[in-house]
Amino acid sequence: MDWREKLARWANVGERGAPVAFAGREREIDLAIRQLEAWQPGTMPGRTVVAQGAPGAGKTALLGEIARRLPERLPNAEAIYMPTPWIDDNVPNVLEELAVKMAGVPADALRTTKGSETAAGVKAVATARRAESRSVSPPTLQTWRAFSREFERVAPQMNPTLLLIDEIQRIGEGEATRDLLYNLHDQTTFPVVLVCGGLSTSAARLGEAGLSRLDEGSILRIDALTAGEAQRSLEESLGIMADDVVGGIAGHPDRWARALAPPTQGWPQHVTCHFRAAAEALLASDRLAFDDANLRDALARAEDNMRHYYDRRLEASRTQTMVVYAVHEAINARTTRRTDAMAVVDAVRPLLGRHDAEDHDATFRRAGECINQMLYAGVVAYATNVTTSPLSIPIPSMAAHIAGLLTTDQREAVRRAIGPAIAH
Ligand SMILES: Nc1ncnc2c1ncn2[C@@H]1O[C@H](COP(=O)(O)OP(=O)(O)OP(=O)(O)O)[C@@H](O)[C@H]1O
Ligand SMILES: [Mg+2]
Repeated sequence: MDWREKLARWANVGERGAPVAFAGREREIDLAIRQLEAWQPGTMPGRTVVAQGAPGAGKTALLGEIARRLPERLPNAEAIYMPTPWIDDNVPNVLEELAVKMAGVPADALRTTKGSETAAGVKAVATARRAESRSVSPPTLQTWRAFSREFERVAPQMNPTLLLIDEIQRIGEGEATRDLLYNLHDQTTFPVVLVCGGLSTSAARLGEAGLSRLDEGSILRIDALTAGEAQRSLEESLGIMADDVVGGIAGHPDRWARALAPPTQGWPQHVTCHFRAAAEALLASDRLAFDDANLRDALARAEDNMRHYYDRRLEASRTQTMVVYAVHEAINARTTRRTDAMAVVDAVRPLLGRHDAEDHDATFRRAGECINQMLYAGVVAYATNVTTSPLSIPIPSMAAHIAGLLTTDQREAVRRAIGPAIAH
């Protein structure tokens, strides 16, 4: 592979992929693993940790890093990653993985599922398999009960296990998954700790799912990295890239890391945008060097990458730009709760051109659905861990970008229209 192909690969490292060089989050990693270390059979049920943060804050990366670091701290511990808790079809697989990893049941024993004389857990998994081939939702509780009876026999030798669940804000959508998590959360026999990642609505959703013994200490806010952490991540990942490129890259990446880190504001997604931009700039240049001209290009490309990222979040909100802007303005002007934001949506709706208005009405029957979708896309968030709290703007530079998509007149019109809605 020549250097161009290598650089092209670095320029494309997934925006949602594992970081090239993970930085920070020591406290969060420690807290999650400590919950598992502290586990004692027959004592407190329901250890759940939830890492909440805006899109691109690094929740998925954090779950991955916790799994990677786990064996250093707890050599016999295991981790299971569940990326899609809204898809009930995964429940049997998770149960199977629990059987294999937590209780040490060999996978092939699990696959021959006949008779009660086979290894512990087999019956449970068999039930789960049947559940999968039928429609999925109801049998989970049953599945879990069968599962737990079998496993109690081997309880003393079980490996402590972290169940890492991503996108937990969608937990209510999968009934079987919700039941599974509820049962894991509500028992004192199995050394399982749930570590969840999700948007700002996560803790509230977990509450609705009955996993509500979350105290302040078990809700972790995932926010920007420190400037030093962002810089370290960039320097390390640029170094890894330089080592990978045949013949190396002239110069040292430290000055680039120092220059690229501040505009990221420590926001992990922005760090990735800047790293990718560095690879893109080198790829486009005829000098394979960490020099000034290439750095200027990298900075410009990073801006572009961030704008793309914001545009995709806006798209995911399925909400008209003017409406998102209106809600952001309201949040900036005064304390804005969900119901206030709904009033703002209704107030700005008449401003939309015919086509946009039709789009808006076809997408959302009620203003509340629009707010939900904005929360879902992370263009707005709850300020704290409860859904009754005011809304907030999770990524200020994203709000600035969205405002910039409108003309001065449009912004002016929005502010006039929402005036009455936000005045109390
Ligand atoms: N601690 C970190 N150090 C370095 N890079 C990180 C860190 N955390 C996340 N990143 C990088 O930032 C980007 C966003 O991270 P990630 O996908 O984990 O965010 P997320 O919070 O899960 O976002 P979403 O809500 O969109 O799922 C990824 O490219 C990831 O590699
Ligand atoms: Mg994620």
